[in-house]
Amino acid sequence: MAKLIVVCGSTGQVGGSIARRMLKEGWRVRGITRNVNGDAAKALAEQGAEMTTADYDDEASLMKAFEGANAIFGLTQFWEYLMTLGQHGAGQKEYEQILTIARVASQTKTLEHFILHTLASGEKLAGLEFACPHWDYKDKAADEIKKSMPELAAKTTFLWIGWFTSNLWGLIRPMEVPGTYGGHIWLVPGKPSLLMYITDIENNVGIFVKYILAKPDISRGAKYVSVHTDIVPYGDALKTWCEVTGKRAEFIEISDSASEGLMGVFGKELASQFRMNEVAEGDWGKPYGKDVVTSAELGIPASELLNMKQSLEANKEKL
Ligand SMILES: NC(=O)c1ccc[n+]([C@@H]2O[C@H](COP(=O)([O-])OP(=O)(O)OC[C@H]3O[C@@H](n4cnc5c(N)ncnc54)[C@H](OP(=O)(O)O)[C@@H]3O)[C@@H](O)[C@H]2O)c1
Repeated sequence: MAKLIVVCGSTGQVGGSIARRMLKEGWRVRGITRNVNGDAAKALAEQGAEMTTADYDDEASLMKAFEGANAIFGLTQFWEYLMTLGQHGAGQKEYEQILTIARVASQTKTLEHFILHTLASGEKLAGLEFACPHWDYKDKAADEIKKSMPELAAKTTFLWIGWFTSNLWGLIRPMEVPGTYGGHIWLVPGKPSLLMYITDIENNVGIFVKYILAKPDISRGAKYVSVHTDIVPYGDALKTWCEVTGKRAEFIEISDSASEGLMGVFGKELASQFRMNEVAEGDWGKPYGKDVVTSAELGIPASELLNMKQSLEANKEKL
């Protein structure tokens, strides 16, 4: 009988990539959603996933959803709570939800592999004054799992994910300036030299998870795997966008307070991420030492992944 992976966040970008990939690999996929009648849930069901209703705030619903799982993928969504709970409130909410997912996973008797989306800690990378809640609380939850759930930690891979190329056709896209005959600006609370880990989501995350599951001996044991293809200065990411779209654009660094003034608490959180990464200088793995497992160690061929330019070309009509 095919193995079963239960995917949290299956109706979203990251979980959706994993669900679709593992269906192609012949796994049984059970997707979690709060709304099985939504379009994304229905589309996944049509592709062969079993969709089930569960909510991270309802432990009993997760218990039922995780039944019989050989693998579980956990993902939380900080940004959904940012407007209502603020930066630390949303971080605390995400921390609690991750620990609920982990607690239920630890009680799932059939579980062989737990893959959890976290991020490196801004505080560990750059110091306490560079806190970045949507990174820090995820990493705090990872540390708590290592401390208080050692049996689960032994089956766990923490999955970091670089900056999504889909941001460029979503919230953080360059904007056309009226009166410039097609000129665009990209307003960023960070320097163009800032080194960014970047990845396509739809293709690459699922591929990474496929290899992580195929190589449990090196990927489990509270190891960290970063999904990225490019580590490039942020300004170069915009140049690639210009090459692919044929449009003109200027990178404009704005201050943290301008970012907050323009985008409210979202702009404040974004600025904290960019400023922390300026200090980290493109090495997320430094504080995690030999616990980081690379794509080369997992044996992931570059030919199976889409790099940044290929990802933008594949999605050109959305840019
Ligand atoms: N954008 C970037 O560049 C970037 C980079 C690295 C990491 N990230 C991280 O990526 C994560 C977001 O991933 P995404 O873009 O795939 O999210 P997404 O597309 O917004 O999807 C969120 C998913 O989470 C599910 N979900 C949220 N709250 C839930 C709850 N209480 N119970 C059950 N399911 C719940 C949603 O399910 P339903 O709505 O169907 O119930 C949905 O499937 C965040 O943690 C973010 O920090 C983003």
